[in-house]
Amino acid sequence: MSDSISVQTSTADTYELHFGYDLSAELEHFVQNFGSGKAFLMVDAFVLKHHRTHFEKALKSHFKELHVFEVPRGEQAKNIEVYKQAVDFVLNEGVERGTPLIAIGGGVTGDLSGFVAATVLRGIPLIHIPTTLLAMVDSSIGGKTGINHITGKNLIGSFYQPAAVFADVKYLETLPEKEWVNGLSEVLKYGMIHSPEILEKVKTLIEQNTFVDGKSWLPLIQQSATIKVEIVAEDVLEAGKRAFLNFGHTFAHVIEKAGNYTTYSHGEAVYAGMIAAVHASNSLGANIDLSNLLQFKPLYKLTLDQVDSSAKELVHLMKSDKKVKDEQIQLILLKQISSPYVYKVSETDFVERTWEHTLNIFK
Ligand SMILES: NC(=O)c1ccc[n+]([C@@H]2O[C@H](COP(=O)([O-])OP(=O)(O)OC[C@H]3O[C@@H](n4cnc5c(N)ncnc54)[C@H](O)[C@@H]3O)[C@@H](O)[C@H]2O)c1
Repeated sequence: MSDSISVQTSTADTYELHFGYDLSAELEHFVQNFGSGKAFLMVDAFVLKHHRTHFEKALKSHFKELHVFEVPRGEQAKNIEVYKQAVDFVLNEGVERGTPLIAIGGGVTGDLSGFVAATVLRGIPLIHIPTTLLAMVDSSIGGKTGINHITGKNLIGSFYQPAAVFADVKYLETLPEKEWVNGLSEVLKYGMIHSPEILEKVKTLIEQNTFVDGKSWLPLIQQSATIKVEIVAEDVLEAGKRAFLNFGHTFAHVIEKAGNYTTYSHGEAVYAGMIAAVHASNSLGANIDLSNLLQFKPLYKLTLDQVDSSAKELVHLMKSDKKVKDEQIQLILLKQISSPYVYKVSETDFVERTWEHTLNIFK
């Protein structure tokens, strides 16, 4: 069972995004495009341990040598030290311009490996095999790669498009519920900014208690990824419409920061951030039923009591975000569901009230 869509990039190249359960045959077929000498694999440590035979099945028949770099689990792997180790590994093992680098893991592995692929020899072919829900619907699409710096997240990186993406939901069979929920926030985001029926579909899947069954999520994963593809295609280098994908994220970045990037996962922060954004939208005249999002609150088991900052301090943190220009906070708000717009705000009382409301909901 598989399907695919084409993705347009700024350089007029396109790449295929494949979706399905067990994409070994498609992957095996695709890698025939490369010389049969060697391939580099950067693989999330958990995925390496539990899925090695699955991905090797598709790759070993073509490549004579597979050089595997194990990516430590967790956000801390997206740092300059691990990046350096990976670059050393790839260069020491004799990479050539056409040697593919295959990233197998969640967004951490994808962002890190993407940056390695973008920078080694000024760019070697990159293949993404996302293994988390978040990576399938979000991070493997759109070409953002990078690592974190001590002063903030994703501050070192580049836009670098993959040669192909294989979203194989077989990997999701081992994904813990916490990571499903983490990725779910981005799926809900697509429901809020683009296709409201997604919210209904998520509700049905959750009621059927199907977090373990990647196959039943396949249509929703494909729909979500397609929305991202469409938005990115119109704005590859993030000059306009792509900002809509940041719905909830301006608030979320502050929650992540306030929790030292350890207390709250990105998905938890985005969920609370979207609730803040809906509240802010309603304060400006929209009439959006917050229960569209609140119905999923029990899944998140989230309290913001570890955010040890007042609403005023949170506004201050927002102003120090890298996306802030001229002291103006940029929010993505909704006129109504599926109708996002960019709102630049310097009058911070209004944002402060939004924080008060949000902290209250997650007491
Ligand atoms: N490039 C982009 O456009 C973009 C977009 C959104 C997020 N991101 C980045 O993505 C990262 C978050 O990605 P993530 O949520 O996938 O986190 P992650 O890569 O850390 O994966 C989450 C956890 O799931 C485990 N895991 C991965 N696949 C698994 C599987 N199949 N079975 C069981 N466990 C598995 C990992 O070991 C890890 O512990 C952040 O660094 C964020 O900045 C990038």
